[in-house]
Amino acid sequence: MEKPHILQIGPYPEWDVERLEKQFEVHRYFEAQNKAAFVAECAYKIRGIATRGELGADKALIEALPNLEIISVYGVGFDAVDLDAAKAAGVRVTNTPDVLTGDVADLGVAMMLAASRGIIGAQDWVRSGNWQTKGGFPLQTRVFGKRVGVLGLGRIGYEVAQRCAGFDMDVAYCDLEPREFAKDWAFEPSAETLAERSDFLFVTLTGGPANKHVVDQKVIKALGPNGMLINVSRASNIDESALLDALEKKALGFACLDVFEGEPALNQRFVALDNVLLQPHHASGTFETRKAMGKLVFDNLLAQFEGSPLPTPVI
Ligand code: 8YV
Repeated sequence: MEKPHILQIGPYPEWDVERLEKQFEVHRYFEAQNKAAFVAECAYKIRGIATRGELGADKALIEALPNLEIISVYGVGFDAVDLDAAKAAGVRVTNTPDVLTGDVADLGVAMMLAASRGIIGAQDWVRSGNWQTKGGFPLQTRVFGKRVGVLGLGRIGYEVAQRCAGFDMDVAYCDLEPREFAKDWAFEPSAETLAERSDFLFVTLTGGPANKHVVDQKVIKALGPNGMLINVSRASNIDESALLDALEKKALGFACLDVFEGEPALNQRFVALDNVLLQPHHASGTFETRKAMGKLVFDNLLAQFEGSPLPTPVI
């Protein structure tokens, strides 16, 4: 029997490619020079899309594939998939929840600690010989005991809050309503009031139109010149031009960012700043997590083609 044909939207590690190729006929969309011609060539054969969180699948692509059954996302975020178009075409969508939660929370907290204690600059201080010629490294800012706000208390937000509680931080959160499981933490009704009472503000909201620019100029102002913003969610949750303005004017103290509008081609204004810690969207980027994510992408595709229940369906 012929293997099911799938369209691979972005690159995966070699172990995922091997597994996918054993089971499916894989068409590498990301390698095609002329995408439209490439899709037109294989359109009728394609039954599945294997994509990544930040790449998704848009309406035009979904509509160009008449026999598409499933879009399997390598990531928890599915905001880049046009869910309405998928629903209209009767296409299932799956993601990779849970397996990446701890790693994403770890990177967020690691950025907060690294930035607050100047760890990257301190290493340069040692390497450059400044320690010997200039003396001790300039004093930095304490983390433990400070006030932290978690904007979005989903799976990742919860793990960030737990870790911060472990650092004896004063934890507050904002979500649609107070959460039963968060009784030890203060609830704030809005992003702005949360920012006002926070030294550190984590953004752990889901991406998509509902949360677009929730962190706006007012929220950034409320966090203020001594505040630090940490984003391990989606760039679209923050008004990036308001963020850049505030960082340039030092109206916001610092930002730790793993996600950017138009990434990887981020706005070059970020690169010129000295009050940012910039990361290449790799919060889920550990061997352990990426292996688990790749397995889920594969398992969902296989389940669909075998007619079994999907392990992690979105729709
Ligand atoms: C990316 C992510 O998918 O889980 C998500 O939503 O954004 C990430 O895990 C990852 O960079 C792989 O593309």
